[in-house]
Amino acid sequence: MLKEQIEKIEKEALGRIQAVKTVEEILQLEIEYLGRKSDFVGILRQLKDVSAEEKREVGKLANAVKIQLQEKFEQAKQKMAVSFDAQAEKIDVTIPAREIPLGHLHPLTQIQNDLEDIFISMGFEIADGPEVEDEFHNFDALNMPKNHPARDMQDTFWLKSQTNADKKRTCTDETQTGADNVDEQILMRTHTSNVQIRYMETHQPPFRIIAPGRIFRNESTDSTHEHTFHQFEALVVGDDISVGNFKFVAQEFFSKFFEKDVAVRLRPSFFPFTEPSFEFDISCLVCDGKGCSACRGAGWLEIGGAGMVNQNVFVAAGYPRNKYQGFAWGFGLERLAMMKYKIDDIRHFHGGDLRFLKQF
Ligand code: FA5
Repeated sequence: MLKEQIEKIEKEALGRIQAVKTVEEILQLEIEYLGRKSDFVGILRQLKDVSAEEKREVGKLANAVKIQLQEKFEQAKQKMAVSFDAQAEKIDVTIPAREIPLGHLHPLTQIQNDLEDIFISMGFEIADGPEVEDEFHNFDALNMPKNHPARDMQDTFWLKSQTNADKKRTCTDETQTGADNVDEQILMRTHTSNVQIRYMETHQPPFRIIAPGRIFRNESTDSTHEHTFHQFEALVVGDDISVGNFKFVAQEFFSKFFEKDVAVRLRPSFFPFTEPSFEFDISCLVCDGKGCSACRGAGWLEIGGAGMVNQNVFVAAGYPRNKYQGFAWGFGLERLAMMKYKIDDIRHFHGGDLRFLKQF
C-alpha cells in the first residue's frame, strides 16, 4: 500500500521536474515533494506503524526515491542557474580574452646572450668556472701570492670551510673579510679570471674563450658599484698573439655590441696577471660625456681591465715559460648594460623592481 503511494509520487514528481521552466518553479516543486509537509514525508512517518518486513522493504524504496528526486532537483536547479546567469550577465563571447602576463629574461641575461652570440661569431668558445673558489685559482696562480698588495684591490669574502672550522675553533663568523683569520683558502671568486687558470689546466693552445659569470666583492655599493655583479672574461692564447689581435677583437666587439661608434679610452694600468696592462673606459652614453650619476660626473665609465698574459700565469697553469702569448680581459657586464640602455644606477639590476625590469 505504502509502496504504491511512493511509486506514484515518484512518477508524478519526475514528470513535473521535467516540465519546469524557471528556478522559482523548481524550488517550489522541491518543497512540495520533499519538504517537511509533503506527502512523501507523511508516508515516511507512517512507517512506524507497519510490520518489520514491510518497514524494511518500503524504507529501502523510500530512501532510493528520495535520493533520486534530490539529484533530479539539483540537476534542474543547476541547469536553470546557468541559463539564468548567462542571460543576466549578457556574456559576449566575441570579446578577446584577457592577456596572461608572460615573464621574460632578465636584462643582464639578455646582454649575456648578446655577448655570447658576438663572440661565438668570432670563433670563441664559452667556458665556465666555480663561484666558490680556492685561493690558488683566484689569486696565487694569477701571480698574486699571499700578502701580495694587489689582493687589496679586490676586497674578498673569505669562507670558512668545514676543515678549517675544525682546525680553528676561534673563527666564529661565516664569512671573513681578511685572509688572516682562516687557513683554508676558500672564497667567493672576486673576478672571472679564475676561469683562465681552470681552462688552461685542461686545454692546450691555441684557443679563444670567453667566460661570463657572477662575482663577489666585499665593497659598499653606489651608482656604479655592486657587491655582487657580473664580469665576462676573454682569453686568447696561441703562438703569435699580439696587442694588435687584442685591439681588433675589442673594436669588433664594441661596434657589434653598441651598434654604433663609441669612444673608447685605454689607460695604462696594473694587474699582476697581465703585462702590459690597460684599463678600458668608454665615453658615457647616458649623458654623452657631459657627466652624470652613471659615470659619477667623469664623462667616462671604466668597463674593464685587460692586457697581455703574464708568463708567470702560463707557468702556474702548467704551460712552458715563453712558449705562448695571449691576451686577456675582464669587463663588467652591468656597466656595459648601463651604457647600452642608458641606465644611471647599477643597483636597478638587482633591485627586483618590476617597473624597471618590464622595460626590457
Ligand atoms: C679585474 O677584475 C680583472 N680580473 C680584470 C682583468 C682580466 C684584467 C683579465 C686583465 C686581464 P677590475 O677589478 O678592474 O679587474 O674589474 C674589472 C671590471 O669589473 C671593472 O672595469 C668594472 O667594469 C667592473 N667592476 C669592478 N668592480 C665593480 C663593482 N663593484 N661593481 C660593478 N662592476 C665592477
